[in-house]
Amino acid sequence: MSWIDEKAYAELARIRLAKEKQVYPYFREFESGGLHTSIGGKPIINFSSNDYLGLTNHPKVKEAAKKAIDKYACGLSSSRVQATTVEHVDLENRMAKWFGFDKCLLFTTGYQAMLGTIVSLADKDTTVILDSYSHACILDGTFLAAGVPGRAPEIRFFNHNSAKSLERILSTRERKNALVVVEGVYSLDGDMAHLQQFVDICAKYDAPLIVDDAHGTGTLGTRGTGILEHMGLMGKAPIVVSTLSKTFGGIGGILLGASDVVDHIKNTARSFLFSATLPVPVVAAASTILDMMEENGPEMVRELHQKAAYFREKLTGAGFDLGASNTHIMPVMCRDERKALFTHLALLECGVLMVPIIYPAVKNGEERLRVNVTRGHTQEDLDTAIDLLKVYGEAFFILSGEELGPMED
Ligand SMILES: Cc1ncc(COP(=O)(O)O)c(C=O)c1O
Repeated sequence: MSWIDEKAYAELARIRLAKEKQVYPYFREFESGGLHTSIGGKPIINFSSNDYLGLTNHPKVKEAAKKAIDKYACGLSSSRVQATTVEHVDLENRMAKWFGFDKCLLFTTGYQAMLGTIVSLADKDTTVILDSYSHACILDGTFLAAGVPGRAPEIRFFNHNSAKSLERILSTRERKNALVVVEGVYSLDGDMAHLQQFVDICAKYDAPLIVDDAHGTGTLGTRGTGILEHMGLMGKAPIVVSTLSKTFGGIGGILLGASDVVDHIKNTARSFLFSATLPVPVVAAASTILDMMEENGPEMVRELHQKAAYFREKLTGAGFDLGASNTHIMPVMCRDERKALFTHLALLECGVLMVPIIYPAVKNGEERLRVNVTRGHTQEDLDTAIDLLKVYGEAFFILSGEELGPMED
């Protein structure tokens, strides 16, 4: 055995144990697409999907993707530098207009969009300032920038969603320029950024603000364009990064900003230049969803909010702790790893998927089921999930907060 085999074996210890005990909850294999799928032949209602408006499987979306396959197949065998299509550029132009920015650039994933944006902008004259709950793409982009020889920016963190903490860091930074990155909606906690305060402080310190609105796109604002629209802050953040992998039904990263800034990133971001182009069927699917948003966005967003409000009211009424959530993403706090794992398994057995989030993704004591209410869930789906959560929330002492007793081996 080489050291890499030994390393892999040693580091897999926790996962091996979870699998032996049959509580390993990840990488479950769906047998069809959609919020109503099956796993191991059993029908499942998926409450961990990010298909927030339930449009991913819309017949028109699939039809558009099929047509694009006939024209372009599933890939263009190259990066955007030599494999850009009229469909890519058309969607970029339409996205820029819909979001209210000068220019849009489509990356192959949202993760790559954030990596490329941070690495292109942050250099040795920059302090990159991040919320302590930042998504992996924000952290990785920053750490990648720090690894570029001769260009490493200073990296600082502020307390989650704290404007006071951000200001303290802006005022004590070491480098001339500051770049602040926040998320519109935090993906594990479902809380919105205190964006008005961040916008004001960033203006005071002349610090450009990047908003990762992956979970606000399609869910916030009257038209669904995101947190800036929701908070009346259109035009107040110079850069928004979002994704096609949630509301927009496929995969892909969205960068929005001023023309020169986007062009600079387009010509320097290695995660854009050195990775394959977004497949055109995916562009066609997103473009069809954009048609729907333009036509019917406000009504669809309203429906999502109605369903989320119903779910929230029933769960909080039953005594569940939904943490800091004030959106359609509602962590059902279990605050115990076994409670989260056992409830997940019991729900799955009953046909409901709610993925547990445990250490190291969250701190010990912050374990939860990550629940997303979507517009695609039916009233029956919501009621089934609520009833089951009540039953198992009681059975596994989530509601009472009592400790689970010791388990036999
Ligand atoms: C906050 C946030 N930013 C970025 C991403 C990355 O998006 P993508 O799936 O397009 O790579 C995600 C996806 O999980 C996310 O939750």
